Amino acid sequence: EKNGYEHFMLKEIFEQPEVVRATIVPRLSMNEEQVKLDRIHITKEELDNTNRIYIVACGTAYHAGLVGKYLLEKMARLPVWAETASEFRYRDPVLDSHSLVIVISQSGETADTLAALRMAKRAGARVMAIVNVVGSTMDREAENVLYTWAGPEIAVASTKAYSCQLAAMYLLVLYLSRMQGTLSREEFAILRQELYALPEEIQSILERAESIRHIVASTVQKSVFYIGRGLDYYASMEGSLKLKEIAYIHSEAYAAGELKHGPIAMIDGDTLVIGLITQQELTEKTVSNLKEVKARGAKVICIAEEGNEKVTEAADEVIWIPKSHPMAASLLANIVQQLFAYYMAVKLGNDVDKPRNLAKSVTVE
Ligand code: M6R
Repeated sequence: EKNGYEHFMLKEIFEQPEVVRATIVPRLSMNEEQVKLDRIHITKEELDNTNRIYIVACGTAYHAGLVGKYLLEKMARLPVWAETASEFRYRDPVLDSHSLVIVISQSGETADTLAALRMAKRAGARVMAIVNVVGSTMDREAENVLYTWAGPEIAVASTKAYSCQLAAMYLLVLYLSRMQGTLSREEFAILRQELYALPEEIQSILERAESIRHIVASTVQKSVFYIGRGLDYYASMEGSLKLKEIAYIHSEAYAAGELKHGPIAMIDGDTLVIGLITQQELTEKTVSNLKEVKARGAKVICIAEEGNEKVTEAADEVIWIPKSHPMAASLLANIVQQLFAYYMAVKLGNDVDKPRNLAKSVTVE
């Protein structure tokens, strides 16, 4: 049932405040000092005994994994590698009882991700699954499970499942940081409030959907670059994937600082550059990259936090998002990207919910 929406994708985009709330609130409301995660059994002793963590997933779920890697290192001071499952399973990673492998999957059935989970178990590693479908194969086979409460996702392009994967990741980061002793009670209390505020912040972006549709209507560029730094780079990868997947527009995601090492040669008047700037301390750096592409004729759209006026120096258009904690701000920027890709696909007359050549879950290799 589309509930009056034109497509499942749009319906699922608009469900995000509710499902992110469902993923976050019950885990945070019980205890003032720690996150409550039902099926996570890792003890402090086991964590101390872990010398590497791998986060393994495909597609959009992999992009959530990159965010997890970044935050687990920054906040919990744990060494983490994030990798696509199809690469991980065919190389020979160092895996033993000192490893923890976290797989992320909406369906819980993706063939490569499942194979990575089984490989980790065979090697004696601890395994954890962040999954959306209760009762799926990964849910059944992983010893530790963290559910995303996104509900059924019908559109092939993942939207609400991704936001819930990020939300689950934030919870896991807080949980492991508390266990590690790298996050004080006071810092935990602040982050808890920030996470509680997320659903409303998402809502306020959804209320601006019409203005994003207008920007899409006036955008004609043939090729698109998404650029950002840090967490914004990972969000860029997700924005770019969504545009390819449903709008069939050639797009690439680049770490903003890498542009001048090659791809800037491609920038001309037919290029659109979408710059993500949610990490305040990196503003100047990315703004200067945007000025470089603008000087070469590209159209520049910037997604940035309200109040960060500096970005207007380099952008033709700015899509503002509410100011949030740096940990979660790129989730908000991605809501804009979802709407951007959606309206672009609609404008081009594509089959939004069932894009060509794609299946909802890839259960063959
Ligand atoms: O069910 P999974 O989360 O394991 O699926 C992984 C990818 O196939 C999936 O995220 C894919 O990239 C989406 N179609 C992206 O929108």
